[in-house]
Amino acid sequence: MRPILKWAGGKSRLMPHLSPLLPTADCLVEPFVGGASVFLNTDHRRYVLADINPDLINFYQAVVDSPESVIRAVLSLFRRANTSTDYYQYRTDFRQWRVTKSLERAAVFLYLNRHGYNGLCRYNLRGEFNVPYGCYKKPYFPEAEIRLFAEKARDTHTRFVCLPFEEALAFHVDEHCAVYADPPYYFPQEDKAGFTGYYITPFRDEAHQALADALIEVNQRRGAPVVLSGSDTPRTHAAYAGFTSHYTHACYSLAAKGVSRGKAVEVIATLSAPGASG
Ligand SMILES: C[S@@+](CC[C@H](N)C(=O)[O-])C[C@H]1O[C@@H](n2cnc3c(N)ncnc32)[C@H](O)[C@@H]1O
Repeated sequence: MRPILKWAGGKSRLMPHLSPLLPTADCLVEPFVGGASVFLNTDHRRYVLADINPDLINFYQAVVDSPESVIRAVLSLFRRANTSTDYYQYRTDFRQWRVTKSLERAAVFLYLNRHGYNGLCRYNLRGEFNVPYGCYKKPYFPEAEIRLFAEKARDTHTRFVCLPFEEALAFHVDEHCAVYADPPYYFPQEDKAGFTGYYITPFRDEAHQALADALIEVNQRRGAPVVLSGSDTPRTHAAYAGFTSHYTHACYSLAAKGVSRGKAVEVIATLSAPGASG
């Protein structure tokens, strides 16, 4: 199943490597859901999908609550607003909170995602969405993807929560859960202002260390197996030193600052359930 949104770091291409390492559990908790490609391509009975970005979580909730209304609202934007003037007008309305209703904000979020440069989702330090116009002739309208996403989320009683990872892990993981964590990456060019953030504040060493500690805690105290994706850099290995590392090659479709499109070595780090073999 394909994601609705274009999302940097999407895991669709990694799924053949990731799937065999994802533990079977009743519920999968994703504290960094992003484009939701892991949710869409796994088969758990329940999901908790969390992210720090309120626009993203509002979008998913609106899609699930009312997929046909989202489709109608977005279709009308796609039909009449594909110039840079239109884009910047909607971007201004969105960032200045002139668009406040959940459904309307969800529609504009998808419009900006598909018409903005490279499908990036970036915010400045004031929390304002600041992606430039992408200038695409006919941006893809993900109508089927919206319906399939809503159907899967309803069938699996998925909960969407807007929380930083510390709270998502503390409040939503129990002994019936496995955790898949896909934090913003360190990239090999990390010393040259690599890509470290998605939402307002960059995700730096301290955040990776706090994430490693929180994952070890839910693994040891609540028995939840954990799988984490990261780039193959010394800082990733240092932060997640207690984890078992598996290596694979990933293709990046969205290039980020300091990172070219192409292949990079990706690490999948795991913590098995205490007492489990492997
Ligand atoms: C690598 S992306 C996830 C990609 C996703 N697995 C996919 O397949 O599309 C990282 C996500 O982490 C979120 N994020 C960044 N900092 C966070 C934090 N402190 N707590 C929770 N989520 C955060 C970003 O908003 C972004 O959606």
